[in-house]
Amino acid sequence: MATNASLKIDDKEYPLPVIVGTEGEKAVDTRALRTASGYVAFDQGYGNTASCESQITYLDGDSGILRHRGYPIEQLAAQSDYVETAYLVIYGELPSATQRKEFGLRLRQNAAVETQMQRIFEGFPKDAPPMAMLSSIVASLAAHYPHLATNNFEHDLKSFDLAAAMAISKIRTIGAMIYRYQKGLPYIFPKQELPFCENFLHMMFSEPYQDYVAAPEIAKALNLLLLLHADHEQNCSTSTVRMVGSSAANLFTSISAGICALSGPLHGGANTAVMQMLQSIHDEGDDGTRFIAAAKSGSKTNRLMGFGHAVYKNFDPRAKIIGKACDDVLAKLGINDPLLAIAKNLEQAALKDDYFVSRKLYPNVDFYSGIIMRALGVPVNMFTVLFAIGRAPGWIANWREVAANPKGRIYRPRQIYSGAVKRDYVPIGQRG
Ligand code: CMC
Repeated sequence: MATNASLKIDDKEYPLPVIVGTEGEKAVDTRALRTASGYVAFDQGYGNTASCESQITYLDGDSGILRHRGYPIEQLAAQSDYVETAYLVIYGELPSATQRKEFGLRLRQNAAVETQMQRIFEGFPKDAPPMAMLSSIVASLAAHYPHLATNNFEHDLKSFDLAAAMAISKIRTIGAMIYRYQKGLPYIFPKQELPFCENFLHMMFSEPYQDYVAAPEIAKALNLLLLLHADHEQNCSTSTVRMVGSSAANLFTSISAGICALSGPLHGGANTAVMQMLQSIHDEGDDGTRFIAAAKSGSKTNRLMGFGHAVYKNFDPRAKIIGKACDDVLAKLGINDPLLAIAKNLEQAALKDDYFVSRKLYPNVDFYSGIIMRALGVPVNMFTVLFAIGRAPGWIANWREVAANPKGRIYRPRQIYSGAVKRDYVPIGQRG
């Protein structure tokens, strides 16, 4: 494998060091290029730029490989659960029995949202977008727990274990409270004795005098869903968390920014958009032809939602797992969801269509996740909130890498300016 590279500009050559990752990924280090040559690397959207070295997740989009801390997603999905995978993603190793117990205890002890914070909810309209509420309320954690969120890496890393547990556990509680607030239902508070997913379902669906007891299939499906979202390398929201964190902003603030990034329909918001698409195909009695035809127009607003991925160009391994889980969960719960049949037909039609085949557009994780969430009783407008709950460990692990890196720099990309060249100011009365 090459160990050195160089860039030739006219007749001058600039040596560029080569960096090789543990899985053999190769990069040309351009950090010193500007100082040496005056040139910067241009890579709109960072599609071919490694913005960091990271030990958390390995992803090979061409081969459909996803591994957290070395463990294949297929093995984690089959044998682990969300909380254990969260520990793995954050701390780098599978927990021992004692570590798992302590981590679980920290999550349970930090699940509640205190009374003063509950009042924030009242400031939102009942029909506020749940992700807008989630990002604001999560940002407010920095105000409520300022001793854990000092915007000083050294200090914040000392209280990292507690802040991380709070973030994971409270984001889930806040998510359930948003649901109940919007429905005008009284909040249901977390129960210490319940496991993570069962507790979420309890806070979502219990009534004041009637506890919702999650069927094992439901809790298992939610565990799988959250686990499959736990981390995903340098996607839009995770890069946002790293970018915000690189300014020494605290964990809660950085995660709140990640939630904002996740809300967009090209990222986490896609699970909502997929469901809306499937529902309108159902309501119109269409076979999906209209959506496929519109998606082929090349317009960004008409894309086939749940299809395509910025890095997977073969298949999304999470989609494979979730597509199969969809069949199992619905069968176990005895649900016959017409949207599942529509999704399968749409998938088949798209996979036979040259537009999608030639562009390597396959179903992604969001294509089937909504059908599972619907089977759990989660309304469509809450889908992206569940994605955020699942993704919290990845954001936390990435923030920690940034905070703990002694050689880390503030994120500050360059640009190529393409605006007006220098011109002189014209007073208002003299403008044409
Ligand atoms: N429907 C129709 N055309 C598409 C789609 C789609 N879903 N996705 C990509 N294309 C086209 C795109 O217009 C481009 O066409 P052309 O070569 O003619 O200009 C070509 O395929 C290549 O696109 P790309 O460069 O691979 O796509 P990208 O990296 O810019 O975007 C994406 C990736 C995920 C934003 C995009 O595929 C998309 O918008 N998908 C629908 C939204 C979606 O499902 N998002 C969830 C992603 S998975 C969850 C997550 O991690 O966020």
